Amino acid sequence: MEVKRIAVIGAGLMGSGIAQVAAQSGIEVNLMDIAQQFVDKGISNIEKNLERMKSKGKIDPSEAEAVRSRITGMLSIEQAAKTADVIIEAVIEKMDLKKDVWQRLEEASPSETIFATNTSGLSITELASMTRRPGKFIGMHFFNPVPVMQLVEIIRGYATSDDTVAVIKDLTRRMGKTGIEVQEAPGFVVNRILVPMITEAIFVLQEGLATPKEIDDGMRLGANHPMGPLALADLVGLDTLLNVQQHLYEEFGDSKYRPPALLKKMVRAGRLGRKTGKGFYDYS
Ligand code: 3HC
Repeated sequence: MEVKRIAVIGAGLMGSGIAQVAAQSGIEVNLMDIAQQFVDKGISNIEKNLERMKSKGKIDPSEAEAVRSRITGMLSIEQAAKTADVIIEAVIEKMDLKKDVWQRLEEASPSETIFATNTSGLSITELASMTRRPGKFIGMHFFNPVPVMQLVEIIRGYATSDDTVAVIKDLTRRMGKTGIEVQEAPGFVVNRILVPMITEAIFVLQEGLATPKEIDDGMRLGANHPMGPLALADLVGLDTLLNVQQHLYEEFGDSKYRPPALLKKMVRAGRLGRKTGKGFYDYS
């Protein structure tokens, strides 16, 4: 199966990044969100990235124009689903919300369409159970910022077929990414390892052991991480991070995954990191 057009459901940080890299690899994209302002924000994010690439000479103007023209913003989930060979859902990390979206997508999609969910660690099998095609359902976990990060975790649910895995591996490669095949488990591989490290950095801050800058300098200069864990938390989004922590904690029932009180408080205050201009650092 050759994937010519995909639908990306959710035009946020992840969805717009996925739409961009797909369009850069010549794939047509239906980019859907529930309100015009979200669609506009996603598309303007892509346009900004393309502008930056143009100014650095990484893409020529005509190619940037072609990439942009492959992306169609829309508000109707039915319209987005109808013409897509593969649907990548990238709505926020809430099981109930994702289930609701998949139920609607099942009704709106031709039976041969492949379904992929971009999730930080929710159960692929549970989401697949909302559809009549668990064999055609798979996880595709992209990393933030999507245009830069090389990896996609390709996650098999209980019933995911080998054919589906093959199509998604090929799509991942066409999108210029490296896929690793992972069996389903909470947090998969990368977040299972990465998120407890970020959590520990927040506990270190909460205990007053060092400032955010000192903690981040510690991990940048002492462990050669490209950015410190608190800066990374701001990049990922503190609400997303908290959702992942809560999920790991609930699924494993192990106190080592418990979310720090400081993080909960910051999320309740609307300090969600870069996307709101304030998190552990001030971006305004
Ligand atoms: N969108 C598009 N491109 C971006 C970008 C963005 N948001 N941010 C940076 N870039 C590009 C820059 O344009 C630059 O491109 P160039 O090399 O072609 O000139 C390149 O990335 C490097 O950027 P900078 O020079 O501005 O800055 P850095 O060298 O510090 O790189 C970084 C920034 C790529 C974000 C780097 O610090 C990094 O890799 N950090 C770690 C990111 C990470 O770990 N992500 C995973 C998060 S976990 C996750 O997503 C899972 C989820 O489920 C929770």
